[in-house]
Amino acid sequence: MDIETQGQSSVDSQIRLSGEKRFDRIDRPSLEFTEEVARDTAPLYEKVKHHIPEIEWPVHAPYVHAINKLKKQRNASILAHNYQTPEIYHCVADIAGDSLQLAMEATQVETDVIVQCGVHFMAETSKLLNPSKTVLIPDMRAGCSLAESITGEDVRLLREANPGVPIVTYVNTSAEVKAESDICCTSSNAVQVVESFGADTVLLIPDEYLAQNVANQTDVKILTWKGHCEVHERFTADELLAYKEADPAIQIIAHPECPTTVTAVADFTGSTKGMIDYALGQKPGAKVLLVTECSMASNIQEQAPGVEFIKPCNLCPHMKRITLPKILDSLLYMKEEVLVDPIMAERARYAVERMVNLKN
Ligand code: 13P
Ligand code: SF4
Repeated sequence: MDIETQGQSSVDSQIRLSGEKRFDRIDRPSLEFTEEVARDTAPLYEKVKHHIPEIEWPVHAPYVHAINKLKKQRNASILAHNYQTPEIYHCVADIAGDSLQLAMEATQVETDVIVQCGVHFMAETSKLLNPSKTVLIPDMRAGCSLAESITGEDVRLLREANPGVPIVTYVNTSAEVKAESDICCTSSNAVQVVESFGADTVLLIPDEYLAQNVANQTDVKILTWKGHCEVHERFTADELLAYKEADPAIQIIAHPECPTTVTAVADFTGSTKGMIDYALGQKPGAKVLLVTECSMASNIQEQAPGVEFIKPCNLCPHMKRITLPKILDSLLYMKEEVLVDPIMAERARYAVERMVNLKN
C-alpha cells in the first residue's frame, strides 16, 4: 500500500515552543572570518583587546557577528551577568549587571525573546517577571551551588519550626524555593530587605555567609541555612593578607558570599555592582583586589583604565558553561526554553516583585 504524509514540510519549517509560539527555522550562518566580519566587529574588538589576543579574534568574531544579526532576526535581547566572559559581556550583551539590575531590567524588556547569559535561577527570575516573553538559556546545566543547597520542602519545614518569622530568600534559589518565601533579596539589598519587616528575627536563607555578613550590619537577629557559594567560599583571609603584606596600598573588595573572615579584612564589601562602582570610583594608579569571580575584573578594566586590578582567579563553572557557540545555537534553534509551573510562578513572582518594588 502507498502511504503519503501530508503537510510535513510546513511543520518542519517552524520551531514550536510552549504556548503555541512558533519561530521560523533559520539556516546556520557561515562562521568564516571574512573581511565583512572583520570590519563589522573591529569596534567590538577594541573593547576586549586586552583580554583576547589578536590571533584568537578570528575564532570569536564570526560568532559575535552572527549572534548580533540573529538577535535582530529573532527580536531578542541578551541579558548578561557581570561574571560572563568579556566577549559575551562587551560584544553581544544588550544589558549587563548584577542580579538585582538584571531582575529590574527583565521587567522592561520589550523584545519577544530574552537570552539569559547567566545561571538558571537568573533565567527563571526573568521568566517570573516578564512571563509573556520566551526566555532561553544557552545551557540548561548552568546551575548554582546556593540554589542547589535548599528545596521548597526545606523552606516549609523551616517555617513550621519558626512560626511567625519572616523568610527572606536570596535570589540565588529555584522558583520552588522563592514560592515558599515572603520576599527575595540580592546581595545589593539584603540589609534593607531584612529590616523592611520591622521584626526582631528574620530567616535569611540559604547563604550562611551572606547571612553572617548581613548580621554584622543590622540589629535584627538572623537565622540562616548552611548553603555556600562554591566560588566565594574558597577565598581565605590569609591569602588576601599575603597580597596586602606584599603591597599595603592594595584595596581589598569582597563579595558578601565570602566567609566573614574574608570580609573582615576587606576595605569594602558589596554586590558585583557595588564592587564595580567602588572600583570605578578609585583614582588612577589605585590597586584593587577583586575577591569574586575572575571575569569581572576583565569586564570592567576598560572603564577604569588607570586602575590596576588584581584577580585571585576563582571561576564559576556554572557561569562558564555559557559560551558564544552555545548562544548562537540558542538563538538559531530557540533552546533551551525556561518555563515555570504557573501556580508556583504566581507565588514566586510575588516574592521577587515585593523585593523589586521595595522603596529605597
Ligand atoms: P550579584 O547579585 O552580586 O551579581 O551576585 C550574584 C552571584 O551569583 C554572585 O555569585
Ligand atoms: Fe552561584 Fe557562586 Fe556561581 Fe554565583 S558564583 S552563580 S553564587 S556558584
